Amino acid sequence: MPHHLPPSSTASNLAVGALLASAIAAGFLLFPGCSRCCPDRAAAMPMPRPTVTATASATVVVAPAPAKADGGGQEGGGHAPAATLTGADAEAAKHVHNYFRVSKNLASGASPESEADFEALAKAGIKSIVSVDGAKPPADLARKHGIRYVHVPIGYDGIPPATALELAKTFVTLHKDGPIFVHCHHGKHRGPAACSIGRMMIDGVSAEETTAWMKQAGTDPKYSGLYATVREFNPPSEADLATIEATMPEAAPTPPMREAMVAIDHHWDALKIVKKAKWGATPEHPDIDPPHEATILAEAFREMGRQPAMADKPDDFKAWVKQSEDAAWALSKALAKGAVDAKAADAQFTAIADVCAACHKAHRDHALGK
Ligand code: HEC
Repeated sequence: MPHHLPPSSTASNLAVGALLASAIAAGFLLFPGCSRCCPDRAAAMPMPRPTVTATASATVVVAPAPAKADGGGQEGGGHAPAATLTGADAEAAKHVHNYFRVSKNLASGASPESEADFEALAKAGIKSIVSVDGAKPPADLARKHGIRYVHVPIGYDGIPPATALELAKTFVTLHKDGPIFVHCHHGKHRGPAACSIGRMMIDGVSAEETTAWMKQAGTDPKYSGLYATVREFNPPSEADLATIEATMPEAAPTPPMREAMVAIDHHWDALKIVKKAKWGATPEHPDIDPPHEATILAEAFREMGRQPAMADKPDDFKAWVKQSEDAAWALSKALAKGAVDAKAADAQFTAIADVCAACHKAHRDHALGK
């Protein structure tokens, strides 16, 4: 049972929640959208012809199996799945990649970025956004559309117990204002884990049910800490909640290492787009200047290597930062204007992707405290 609902909304929330939960459990997913990496894509992309299943109060659209993630291996950005939405939610899904409407009260997905993204979320009834991403949220843009931002950044290693409780309190508090959208960056791993806390607090779903949904949302099993957080989460009672403090900032302070990663990821996303275009022109992304993106990436790794926090890092970590920097310089060279060496660019791109994955596996993705 939900613990913290205003009495009036309990029954209908449960009904809608159960309906959607069963649709989700049956394996239905949502529409592709991709505002971050390709603003025009959602509009331009032909929608797969959906199968429509009418249910009591919702229409469930079943779409084909998820497409495989694009280049860059595990570092996200996959033009994921498709499937079950109608009306304003279907529209929001065209703007926000990996958009899931998990219940009347909650939705989850990738970072909204443009004015149009926030407008679509507002039209889908969203009143608050909880970001668990490392990037500073565009709170001003959201406010223009009557949406309040709350920033509670988390890692890939799991949600520390105190942060999980802070999230629980945040969800219950924001729920009073209406539906909440939860996002990380790509909307696949950290966001669905945090959204699951919200589902347990507001929709009263079990950990089992919401971890099944995390799988649908694409949360990689390698992030065992995220799954463990949700499985082990014990929804606090109303009395306990009253003792929990949640400051609910629009932008939480981010440690320099995380900030560096957010910037690195941004340039990496741009390079993924160029790679997809076989290192050729990307006219729909006039802002991307390939050799420059690689140069900035190299500089970002160099800056990272100079951070005071590096002193405490193990040797493999230091070596990977240097390797990434060197490969990014080489990539920049391979992408020189008028003299693109696609083969060399592919090799350097892969070298960088491998290092991102290796360092994350060793130093980021392990479950908390393990
Ligand atoms: C030398 C190790 C190392 C390398 C190389 C590395 N990362 Fe990271 N990355 C980390 C660590 C550690 C964190 C967690 C930082 C934290 O939360 O404080 C992280 C976090 C991230 C995050 C999450 C940021 C957030 O929102 O909290 C993203 C995204 C990311 N890295 C992308 C990349 C990409 C893309 C590459 C390669 C181009 C890369 N990283 C290379 C160590 C590395």
